[in-house]
Amino acid sequence: MTVPVIKTALPGPRAKAIIERDRAVVSPSYTRGYPLVIERGAGAMVEDVDGNVFLDCSAGIAVTATGHSHPDVVAAISGQAAQFVHMSGTDFYYDVQVRLAEELAAIVPIRGGVKSFFGNSGTEAIEACLKLARYATGRQGLIAFQGGFHGRTMGSLALTGSKAVQRRGFGPLMPGVYHAPYPDSYRPPAGLTPEAFVAQCLGYIEHELFTQLVSPDEIAAFVVEPIQGEGGYVVAPDGFLQGLRDLSRKHGILLIVDEVQSGMGRSGKMFAIEHSGVEPDVVAIAKGIASGMPLGVASARADLMTWPPGAHASTFGGNPVSCAAALATIKLLNGSLVANAAAVGGHLMAALKALAGKHRLIGDVRGRGLMIGVELVRDRQTKERAADERNAVVLGAFRRGLLILGAGKNSIRFSPPLVLTREQADIAVKILDDSLTEVEGHR
Ligand SMILES: Cc1ncc(COP(=O)(O)O)c(C=O)c1O
Repeated sequence: MTVPVIKTALPGPRAKAIIERDRAVVSPSYTRGYPLVIERGAGAMVEDVDGNVFLDCSAGIAVTATGHSHPDVVAAISGQAAQFVHMSGTDFYYDVQVRLAEELAAIVPIRGGVKSFFGNSGTEAIEACLKLARYATGRQGLIAFQGGFHGRTMGSLALTGSKAVQRRGFGPLMPGVYHAPYPDSYRPPAGLTPEAFVAQCLGYIEHELFTQLVSPDEIAAFVVEPIQGEGGYVVAPDGFLQGLRDLSRKHGILLIVDEVQSGMGRSGKMFAIEHSGVEPDVVAIAKGIASGMPLGVASARADLMTWPPGAHASTFGGNPVSCAAALATIKLLNGSLVANAAAVGGHLMAALKALAGKHRLIGDVRGRGLMIGVELVRDRQTKERAADERNAVVLGAFRRGLLILGAGKNSIRFSPPLVLTREQADIAVKILDDSLTEVEGHR
């Protein structure tokens, strides 16, 4: 399994049968863009139930950081499972959870002591951040950003401002949440430079939100993705994150960075916020941390963690098998994979930018490390969003053996396992090239 090989029509007969059964008994709320039914994975390759082999540049939505079933991670999982699978870190102690908290204290970019709360998912990490921020500050208000995605449970959903369908029918959501604009450098308002756009976004908070809607002394925290994920792989300009840090210090507001998608080496640094030099108060982590085992973490300045026993906990949170997988993952990330994300990410970014010279559909290529967005537009002047074309390109890539996902209305995301090689990156670009050619030919 080193190169994509498509042997059947897609979906193949076995995949088709499984999808039909799925339709009858599984929630229709999931978003399946194309019919992949996985049988096994290894590194950046995936084989489906009909023997078709794909190059995976989705990593199961930016999760399998060390690749599918990395032998070290599998050994850590099976070793821990053979020892004990569960005891509940909320009522008992186990060394593997403490070791993970120690590792996190070493890698989370907060100085002066870090404590971690363990849950099972990204949304639980965010819920813990929100509760901690309210508890620690005694304030209720929260400021999130348009285009942001923070999860789908009721608290985090109130912050999510990415797609209306994610909120439709579920209101009223948690009160006390305000949304501010997030500066998308590709789409500044007419006549504004990217720098002036950043100033405008920060100015909205300071001069409109804080004067018209809520007093800053009622705000517990800003919750921000250093690179918006579901929103379209939009990189926050450093000046914006610095400006938020300044505003938060001025008003005694906490800065929570949601690194659920951008963290654990994906950006070419362990956490994407490190590119800006900004030190947050709280970091939400999930997805890549345990290479696919469920784990979500809220890591915070130790002095904020004053909540008493019973204030917050989760039966399964910090499951020992997930903690063991996370320790093995962090070792691999520190060993070579963060550096590989930076190096192969740079190579992939350059190749995708070069592709823009050939395909008029490509409006923008952006990102950091192996977190790269390609935004498709119908016209480079008007930047009209090419949403249908994006979907067609993603589907065309699947048919050719490349797994990629959409992000935002009209962007493609590259979020491969961090073991991706340059050769695999080149294969991905070639398939994208062919898929773009096909879709452009139909327009
Ligand atoms: C930035 C961000 N935060 C939170 C979440 C929610 O994570 P989960 O789906 O594990 O609840 C996601 C999921 O895509 C995410 O991208």
